Amino acid sequence: MAKQFKRTLITAALPYANGPVHVGHLAGVYVPADIYARYLRLKGEEVLMIGGSDEHGVPITLRARKEGVTPQDIVDRYHYIIKKSFEDFGVSFDIYSRTTSKTHYETASEFFRILNDKGAFVEKTNEQYYDTEANQFLADRYITGTCPHCGNERAYGDQCEACGTSLSPTELINPKSTISGSIPVMRETKHWYLPLDQYDPFLREWILENHKEWKANVYGQCKSWLDMGLQPRAVSRDLDWGIPVPVEGAEGKVLYVWFDAPIGYISNTKELRPNDWETWWKDPETKMIHFIGKDNIVFHCIVFPAMLKADGTYNLPENVPANEFLNLEGDKISTSRNWAVWLHEYLEDLPGKQDVLRYVLTANAPETKDNDFTWKDFQARNNNELVAILGNFVNRAMVLTEKYFDGKVPPVTEFTDYDRRTIDEFACVKAEVERLLGTFHFRDAQKEAMNLARIGNKYLADTEPWKQAKTDMPRVSTIMNIALQITANLSIAFEPFLPFSMEKLNKMLNVEPLAWDRLGATDLLPEGHVLGKPELLFEKIEDSVIEAQVQKLLNTKKANEAANYQAKPIAETIQFDDFAKLDIRVGTVLECIKVPKADKLLQFRIDDGLQKRTIVSGIAHYYQPEELIGKQICFIANLAPRKLKGIVSEGMILSAEDADGKLAVVMPEKAVKPGSEVK
Ligand code: MF3
Ligand code: ZN
Repeated sequence: MAKQFKRTLITAALPYANGPVHVGHLAGVYVPADIYARYLRLKGEEVLMIGGSDEHGVPITLRARKEGVTPQDIVDRYHYIIKKSFEDFGVSFDIYSRTTSKTHYETASEFFRILNDKGAFVEKTNEQYYDTEANQFLADRYITGTCPHCGNERAYGDQCEACGTSLSPTELINPKSTISGSIPVMRETKHWYLPLDQYDPFLREWILENHKEWKANVYGQCKSWLDMGLQPRAVSRDLDWGIPVPVEGAEGKVLYVWFDAPIGYISNTKELRPNDWETWWKDPETKMIHFIGKDNIVFHCIVFPAMLKADGTYNLPENVPANEFLNLEGDKISTSRNWAVWLHEYLEDLPGKQDVLRYVLTANAPETKDNDFTWKDFQARNNNELVAILGNFVNRAMVLTEKYFDGKVPPVTEFTDYDRRTIDEFACVKAEVERLLGTFHFRDAQKEAMNLARIGNKYLADTEPWKQAKTDMPRVSTIMNIALQITANLSIAFEPFLPFSMEKLNKMLNVEPLAWDRLGATDLLPEGHVLGKPELLFEKIEDSVIEAQVQKLLNTKKANEAANYQAKPIAETIQFDDFAKLDIRVGTVLECIKVPKADKLLQFRIDDGLQKRTIVSGIAHYYQPEELIGKQICFIANLAPRKLKGIVSEGMILSAEDADGKLAVVMPEKAVKPGSEVK
């Protein structure tokens, strides 16, 4: 038997306040959380949706250091940008606070103290990396080195981003301090550990036995963590940014960001509901759902539940519908590489199109596997679905009613069998959407809502009221009544997904938002009800708009390539005599052809000023043979002949080669006589 709950506490992962939020955040966490919250509210259920910025942690201090400002400056800057983006996209948090709030400091400190008093931690002293130049311990991302698993030379002390393995700093090969670049030494330090291993039996039963209904990606990841064997986790760090460890003798130590951040859900509930926050966290009739991305699974399904269990007075999450990742045009989204569609920039470039993005991100949500956001798909879904199906149907229903009935809902005269079948069909949508939303299948739920618009379009296409109008107005009256009821149904079904457009639609229909329970009904708009003015819900997005966005990303790619470009180090020193041995000359290209069966090679006939010679050169990827004929090139004239693909090459053409291997032939800046020396 499924448990019955009275209310739902929805949490959405607290984003790090070290950068703005992008489409990946929205797709993976905030749109699904918002759809769910809106859906439950529409059903009249008691819901809180809790959010906030995660303002501690090493990435924030690193960013501050790089910019020469304080961590507080960084989080102040991004907290408000992030908060505004969520508001702009209709993410309907009941509170969006931050982990630097006073309430949070108190709540997190108290949480730690209670666990500490209960003896829930193990204190351990061990050796950790210390930077003797910067005089500080090096936690997590303050260390980089080579990943022992994949050889990536830029792995961090807590994780390798290339292969995704989580690491501890001591596993890194050739560790280096991020602060000073120096090689760190080992030094003793004391920390508090949560002995996760002791929670193994509890977690196994709670997740593996009692929550088999969790999404396969979530359940699978939990199982693999449990099967690998849980280790005690340090919940403190040697850092000067964070919540001080609230016990004596802990100077210079703060709570680990992943200890304090999830407590932020509690703090923010408390801030919002100082008097009854405990109902939301401790009453067994409250259902808690965590919306997160896949990189947060271990913290929300294992670490935080262990913390809550250690306290013993809190509820555990009922479900954690984590999503996989959204990629962008085939590449992993990355804040540091600026490979993202930033929400605030999206709105500057495509003002008013919040719902289009929400729609596309849900249609493409990475629910079961990583997915890709592309601008082409964005355009296609807007033009072919929002405009051509939903917008088109609503517009026809509105405009025809205006035309034939002066904008008033006409009466039903008589239903045909076909009308009844259509009504039955759209009455089924409710149960299906509910089943899908209740089990976190947001893409399919949205598809089902779109299906309602498809039913509407088909109904109008089949009944052809514009033809009937010539002979049978009573029939048109029934048809338009049904079309308008479908339209009103759409405004319910789509509210969780497209809140801005549905607000607009409600205005057009001249109704207050309709309750979820009415979905499927045929009497949403009473006969004689006066409609508002028809307006277009969506508009076509032109190619030029999409091209501009693609170009923006190409520019980012180019800038990244330029920023990452590293010329090769200079070779060993030589003496002038070594150089003088080379006889470099200018020659004129007389002939140039591709070498058969050798995709890299071009064969040249060169006038070297004294005679003609043949040279083979590996530049076929960079030049068409014809474009080099008549050009002057530089070549080594005294190189011993070599055979390449059966052709004797008498010398070597000089090309500039960048570190990426691209080649450009070296040519004299103005015409010179063939045979001129290059010195
Ligand atoms: N800041 C984390 C991230 O972006 C998420 C924190 S979720 C919370 O990955 F539970 F810790 F709040
Ligand atoms: Zn790796």
